[in-house]
Amino acid sequence: MGLIKKLDPIIANKIAAGEVIEKLANVIKELVENAIDAQAKKIDIELQDSGLKMMRVIDDGLGMDEDDLLAAFERHATSKISSVNDLFRIKSLGFRGEAIPSIASISKMTITSNLKDSAKAVVFDNGQFIEIKDASLNQGTMVEVEKIFYYTPARFKYLKSEQYELALIQALIYQFALSYPNISFRLSNNQKLLFSSNGQGSIKNLMAQIYGINVGSALLDFQGQTRDFKIYGKTTKPVINRSNRQYIHIIVNHRVIQDTEIVQAILESYDQLIPKQRYPITVLYIDVDPLLIDVNVHPRKQEVKFSEKQALIDLIRSSISEVVKDKPIFQEVKNEDIQTTIDFTQGLEIKEENQTFYENDTINIQEEKRKIIPDLSYIGQYSGTYLLFQNDQGLYMVDQHAAAERIRYERYAKEMQINNQMIQTTIFPIRMDFPADVLTKLKNHKDDIENIGIKFDINDDHLLVKEIPLWFPKNYEDIYMETIIDQFSEDKRTSKKELIDDLAILLACKHSLKANHYITKAEADHLIKDLRQCQKPYTCPHGRPIIVEIKHSQVEHWFNRVI
Ligand SMILES: Nc1ncnc2c1ncn2[C@@H]1O[C@H](COP(=O)(O)OP(=O)(O)OP(=O)(O)O)[C@@H](O)[C@H]1O
Ligand SMILES: [Mg+2]
Repeated sequence: MGLIKKLDPIIANKIAAGEVIEKLANVIKELVENAIDAQAKKIDIELQDSGLKMMRVIDDGLGMDEDDLLAAFERHATSKISSVNDLFRIKSLGFRGEAIPSIASISKMTITSNLKDSAKAVVFDNGQFIEIKDASLNQGTMVEVEKIFYYTPARFKYLKSEQYELALIQALIYQFALSYPNISFRLSNNQKLLFSSNGQGSIKNLMAQIYGINVGSALLDFQGQTRDFKIYGKTTKPVINRSNRQYIHIIVNHRVIQDTEIVQAILESYDQLIPKQRYPITVLYIDVDPLLIDVNVHPRKQEVKFSEKQALIDLIRSSISEVVKDKPIFQEVKNEDIQTTIDFTQGLEIKEENQTFYENDTINIQEEKRKIIPDLSYIGQYSGTYLLFQNDQGLYMVDQHAAAERIRYERYAKEMQINNQMIQTTIFPIRMDFPADVLTKLKNHKDDIENIGIKFDINDDHLLVKEIPLWFPKNYEDIYMETIIDQFSEDKRTSKKELIDDLAILLACKHSLKANHYITKAEADHLIKDLRQCQKPYTCPHGRPIIVEIKHSQVEHWFNRVI
């Protein structure tokens, strides 16, 4: 009865904007994608106050004439697809014809464009057409967005600090630069140049520019091909790894996507060459016939559905592991690292508290008693990795790496808890390169980090560390720093205890006795003695088992000796 009405187009646009535009970076993404679709070779992104005051994207692409300029503000107006068939073979980044009307509905938007020597500018404010006028501009298009979210104050709540929004934009532009190495990008905020790429196509140079020279010089090339997919890219040698996965970029037909299965495949390619919870820096390009993928899964187009996904995963895994395997795991052998014999004598000083701990707790007594390692006598080493012990109950296999990791972990965790207030000044400030977006985010956490006992200055593309906690082990300062920085830049609000715990795990793993290492009886006995004093001697810090017991009765059973 006339209750159902067609939505006013401006309201429809605002609703659409809600789906796509939550952050300033979302606006930049849409505008840059449009510039790329218009075949630009040079794209400048200029911000004022991280984009809150103004965002301007200038390209040297095809440009639009007066009619197209006006049409661009209309919902579902697109030059990119015209039939359902096109939808299944999308090559352009945009195709929905929604971005411009959506952004225009929540801001003041001016688009100036020059198609063959006559430039026009169209102004919309709060979704309403204001004017069209003559303008001057070189070939291409300039889009200016002001007063973003001014008319939708509720959206402000999605915005974090200005620094954070800027960091997201920086990260986005890095992704674009990596996806389109032949386009030159420039990003500036309040007239300060933050990034510029030369558009000459070198991924290695781009990665060095974004992640620092160390990374640039530790890259491995990989490639592979099946009937449906062509993949190629660069990934760091196992020695260069980070504590979060934000440095893994997956780019499908030039589109950056998120895909946990693919990330997992990349990690599996490294097998055990990098420690648990450490990630390589990777740029993976996947070229595929657009017919075999569906990008229309989500309005932000960050997910892609692949047909033949498993074949793709297998290809990634085999191509990367091929180049990664046999690469050295240790960065460089520093004096303190050389382990000719394993010295467990400097092991634990933890007092034996276990025996009395549960005395009054009748319920847990049985359980806990079982957890104390029994007396064992050493038999020998199996497969260079497992230590065999026995007693009258049975046979015991101990994973030597896991055991050493547990011992070291408890020792480090304890030392750090005690010493974490003490600070040392570095003789020379330690210089550490980080991508500028990470450093931008870090500004928000400077106080938190200083609280842990680290004093540092933030510069454009690096940190200068002046003071560090005493418990940072010598020669591992950089790994410690980097882990801490990564955790804070991810906005993980970790407590000091969690942080120390993570670091202890990391260090225990780095320093511990590896598998495939022959050890003597004295060393094996020492290892078991130290392990017996651990609070949790049955699992390594990653939760893997340390000891497996084979009961004597089980062995008798196998040999049909049970009567
Ligand atoms: N920088 C530009 N240069 C040339 N033409 C442009 C530019 N930006 C937008 N256009 C034109 O305006 C149209 C509408 O842009 P809009 O971003 O709203 O939609 P789209 O890119 O087609 O799809 P999507 O909503 O998925 O981004 C485009 O199809 C294109 O024809
Ligand atoms: Mg678009």
